[in-house]
Amino acid sequence: MRQITVRSHAKINWLLRVLGRRDDGYHDIETIFQSISLHDRITIREAPSLELRCDDPSIPAGEQNLVVRAWRALHDRHRIPPVAIDLGKRIPAGGGLGGGSSNAAATLRALSRLFALPADELPEIALALGSDVPFFLVGGTALGEGRGEMLEPLPDIAPIPLLLLFPEERVPTGEAFAALRADGASVRRSDAGRLRRIAGDPLAAARELTNDFESTVFARLPRLEELKQMLLERGARWAGMTGSGSTIVGAFATEPARDAVIAELAAGIDAVPAETISRSEALA
Ligand code: C5P
Repeated sequence: MRQITVRSHAKINWLLRVLGRRDDGYHDIETIFQSISLHDRITIREAPSLELRCDDPSIPAGEQNLVVRAWRALHDRHRIPPVAIDLGKRIPAGGGLGGGSSNAAATLRALSRLFALPADELPEIALALGSDVPFFLVGGTALGEGRGEMLEPLPDIAPIPLLLLFPEERVPTGEAFAALRADGASVRRSDAGRLRRIAGDPLAAARELTNDFESTVFARLPRLEELKQMLLERGARWAGMTGSGSTIVGAFATEPARDAVIAELAAGIDAVPAETISRSEALA
């Protein structure tokens, strides 16, 4: 029986700019994506009927699950057989870490390998599943433009220790974009050259690592801004929100500096250490 197990890594955005609304309802963005060590695990094997099992009961396991939709997209094209999929979740949903998108891309890659399908069709299928899904086929450090699907892989950076804080509040992406418009976000010019420079050494450019969603989301959820300030006060070289939230990320010069903050954290704050990873680790 054919079977495959893959890791499905999360991402952060070092920087995220929303340039403006498009005629198709989406927004043009400009971002630096970064794969990180935090990952889910996906095992796929041939089975008599399609089945998804997930160890997190809060994740919907039906047709709307991106893993199921990824299988269906390849089934529609290639009549691949039914599979049983085991999804071990570590990446929180709705946290701006791309968990669902990463799972979709990992499933596409795994099924493509398992059934020897052409790899060049995957980016198009990935985009149909979500704006962030194509990044997870590229991994590592990458410049993202358009809806996030126009990707330029950038050189790997040395591993940077991270601390991820998971507030209980979740921010659905569509709502975050709508709130940004309601707050009167202006149209911005792209500046890809600046992003390429920043991506080479993000911590050296920490003051330039901004996220356009922060002001809107922080106004509604002030606790998130408090967490960001707390990380900066305790020695993070950079701290900020990833994606449209709600995860707050701190980046540290060294692991001991990061671990000292973990030791001092107030009870009740859900914190997970992680680090940036290379493209080959992200796609292993
Ligand atoms: O592409 P995805 O399904 O992940 O996007 C979820 C929602 O976020 C979209 O329906 C859209 O409202 C918004 N979005 C956007 N511009 C983007 C990405 C997402 O407006 N570049």
